[in-house]
Amino acid sequence: MSEHAVHPVPQWWAENALIGADEYAVKYRASIADPDDFWRGEAQRVTWMKRFNSVKNTSFDAEDFRIRWFEDGTLNLAANCLDRHLPAKANDTAILWEPDDPARPGRTLTYGELHEQVCQFANALRADGVKKGDRVTIYLPMVPEAAVAMLACARIGAVHSIVFAGFSPDALAGRISDCESDIVLTADEGLRGGKAVPLKANVDAALEKVGVRRVVMLRHTGKDVPIVEGRDVDWADYAAGQPAECEPEEMNAEDPLFILYTSGSTGKPKGVLHTTGGYAVWVSMTHEYTFDYRAGEVYWCAADIGWVTGHSYVVYGPLMNGAITLMFEGVPNYPDFSRFWQVVDKYDVATFYAAPTALRALMREGDEWVKKTSRKSLRLLGSVGEPINPEAWDWYYNVVGDARCPIVDTWWQTETGGHMITPLPGAHALKPGSASFPMFGVQPALVDPADGHILDGANEGALVILDSWPGQMRTVYGDHNRFIQTYFSQYPGKYFTGDGCRRDADGYYWITGRIDDVINVSGHRMGTAEVESALVDHDAVAEAAVVGMPHDIKGQGIYAYVTTMEDVEPTEALRKELVQWVRKEIGPIATPDVIQFAPALPKTRSGKIMRRILRKIAENDTGNLGDTSTLADPSVVEDLLANRPHVA
Ligand code: WT7
Repeated sequence: MSEHAVHPVPQWWAENALIGADEYAVKYRASIADPDDFWRGEAQRVTWMKRFNSVKNTSFDAEDFRIRWFEDGTLNLAANCLDRHLPAKANDTAILWEPDDPARPGRTLTYGELHEQVCQFANALRADGVKKGDRVTIYLPMVPEAAVAMLACARIGAVHSIVFAGFSPDALAGRISDCESDIVLTADEGLRGGKAVPLKANVDAALEKVGVRRVVMLRHTGKDVPIVEGRDVDWADYAAGQPAECEPEEMNAEDPLFILYTSGSTGKPKGVLHTTGGYAVWVSMTHEYTFDYRAGEVYWCAADIGWVTGHSYVVYGPLMNGAITLMFEGVPNYPDFSRFWQVVDKYDVATFYAAPTALRALMREGDEWVKKTSRKSLRLLGSVGEPINPEAWDWYYNVVGDARCPIVDTWWQTETGGHMITPLPGAHALKPGSASFPMFGVQPALVDPADGHILDGANEGALVILDSWPGQMRTVYGDHNRFIQTYFSQYPGKYFTGDGCRRDADGYYWITGRIDDVINVSGHRMGTAEVESALVDHDAVAEAAVVGMPHDIKGQGIYAYVTTMEDVEPTEALRKELVQWVRKEIGPIATPDVIQFAPALPKTRSGKIMRRILRKIAENDTGNLGDTSTLADPSVVEDLLANRPHVA
């Protein structure tokens, strides 16, 4: 790492930042020493309907487990994102929308217009019988109506569950049925990189497996799609004639706000549940401090609303802060590799926040695509979703940011609601590849994976968080026991992140990646168990084991070992079929990069698959496979090594 320079806080930032180095130190200490006092202060960023008395009521101890923040306060998050800005900002831009096709007109929604649309849609949902606590599934592309839908749910206290529009009908059906949602909001089609995504057709296919009462469909591309009488309604008709005012539901701070499904190391995706008050404080605070957000600036988070980054940093965080948030429908390489930077210039974007995978893909295409744009408006860059390798960091810093803009490398998770470890641009010298220091109120620690004892000083271990923070998930929807088991059982009394981490002599944190059976493909989380279960659902497959492999662009790729049924020949045609099969079962993000047919998988005598060995082979680190003496049949490994497919 030493060849990568440490970048001190630039002078402009040192002089002007909201949070400087001294202020960070003072505030951080205060947030840990007296959390009640600290959070009582930060909670003023919310307009409460009823003030809270209790601030923090949390314990990670099994006998006394509870996570409650501001528990006797009430609020409405949509009113916080909209209504309270109206007196000063009704005519100011809330959302800038850039379509997939740059030749088409974009859209601008002011706070006043967004408020009106949210109220109308909220009234429509209410008129349709949707009540506080009901789950509403959202399967929409990156269009302003996605934000309208989220905020309309929040306004009436309905719990939204957004399913990324790249997921398959099966994945959608599973999520609809898990949260027992009886209404789906979708569009005729999505558009990405000039290609149509058949959203309504996917919904129809999903609804062959699980019934719902209502489908509300936005006409986006205008494609002629089949309509089911009585069930399907046009978005425009649904909202038509509804009043432009809608009484916001009074929500308790601990009432659910949304469910978002995410992959774990075992089983099917879990419904991560976030509640209202703590989340509102957390996303507002982190959006302001991490991005040093200033009123009037254009802020662009390039994530999709289907992921938590889109929830917290396209919609809720920025709108809490009265920001101008840019929503982009398209992809980085369409119509060409300059698109991101053209959009930056078109809207004078000040802050740009994206995943390393996109940067690596663009870096490969050469600097010219960047250099032919101005990017003068940029003052801050952000990275999220996966470790950023120092080469990509340097490129982002020097080429995209012209060595002028700090990079905030934000480490967090669907479960954490918002930023947990990140540099603050005015406070911390940057080390390329390090997420640096904890956010206020966050107490990270490294533990020895073997016995769970806390490791001090410069060290490497499993990353845990010692105490609760307001944006923390509260439960796994419908399965509280799974919540406790997944996050609080490995290291009792501590929240286990699933990540490995190193802390250097200067106290900087360096996330090293997942140490459970979760892989990170292009900044998206994928459970190896999910891909395995899709593979074994195919008639030709007897057994499958999936591990991550290093991938230049995606960070990690998907490497699948497959044993076919006894009478099935493992052919090239079958390999292709299985790749398509997984795409159909889960979605394109789960596309296996490598499928290796194996007559058998390496197992212990008790029948447990030895993933450690499979990982080594996938990583092509075959010189040292470690202890193989517990294998039931060592020849299995020899076969795997001999038949390892050539990986480009
Ligand atoms: C996992 C969480 C963060 C929201 C989007 C992804 C990895 C995330 C970083 C980072 C290194 C990172 C971790 C984490 N991750 N950000 N800055 N540096 N790794 O949320 O899908 O819940 O995934 O993404 O492994 O556990 P997610």
